[in-house]
Amino acid sequence: MGYQTIDVQPLSGALGAELLGVDLSAPLDNATFSDIHQAFHEYLVIFFRDQKLTPQQHCDFARRFGQIVPHPYVQSLEGYPEIIEIVKRPDEVNNWGETWHADMTFRDEPPNAAVLYAREVPASGGDTLFANMYLAYETLSEGMKQMLDGLEAVHESGRSGAFYDSYKGMKPKPAEALAATHPVVRTHRETGRKALFVNRAFTRCLKDMADEESRPILEYLYQHSTRPEFTCRFRWKKDSIAVWDNRVTMHNALNDDFSARRGANGFRRVMHRATIAGERPA
Ligand code: SIN
Repeated sequence: MGYQTIDVQPLSGALGAELLGVDLSAPLDNATFSDIHQAFHEYLVIFFRDQKLTPQQHCDFARRFGQIVPHPYVQSLEGYPEIIEIVKRPDEVNNWGETWHADMTFRDEPPNAAVLYAREVPASGGDTLFANMYLAYETLSEGMKQMLDGLEAVHESGRSGAFYDSYKGMKPKPAEALAATHPVVRTHRETGRKALFVNRAFTRCLKDMADEESRPILEYLYQHSTRPEFTCRFRWKKDSIAVWDNRVTMHNALNDDFSARRGANGFRRVMHRATIAGERPA
């Protein structure tokens, strides 16, 4: 099925497309949003350039994908409880989201999507990688698929203290460590397709297995799911927006500020994120 209201330019063979010809600051008519939604399902992560949005307009657009949920351990932007600010200071050697992950899989109902808006980005560096978890599942051997279907994995948020120490530009809020158990292979409620659902940042172990058994299987799945041909890479500019399907993608905010790592002044990067409520994976 084609697109009536927008121009769609795929970014890689695996996933990702840039959507042209739409101004997200204006109310979106149903035909335009229907095309955007179709591209979201077809490409799993969609990108827009040169969007001048107030925080309110950011929320209004995000709400077209569902209800916005707060983050459990990051404070919201003042006056906008639905938006968190992701900040990397020039002297910061860590980068929030630098390990491959899907957002908040330590919740019983991990988010369905996120709408990330670039407010300040460096001239180079600080790109984000995305991976297609349908492809990660579909390219496994039949034997591996049979073994994984029916298995569950435990996901944990980790200590919030580690968060406080690592991201000095961000505003944490005190929170208990969270944990949830999810199927290793989930079925997307809208597309009916199966996707791998484990990630290096939050998945701790396979349920009902010894750690020695679980660790090599998970390690293989992390390596497999981030094979370069399953990914795309987005080069941010100020006012770019990404919307990803958190059920069937992972992402990695590249930590490539080598100046900061050498102890010199590196780059500052500021993103605003609205996170869309999800459902219990099945
Ligand atoms: C995240 O939501 O994990 C951060 C992504 C990014 O800053 O590129």
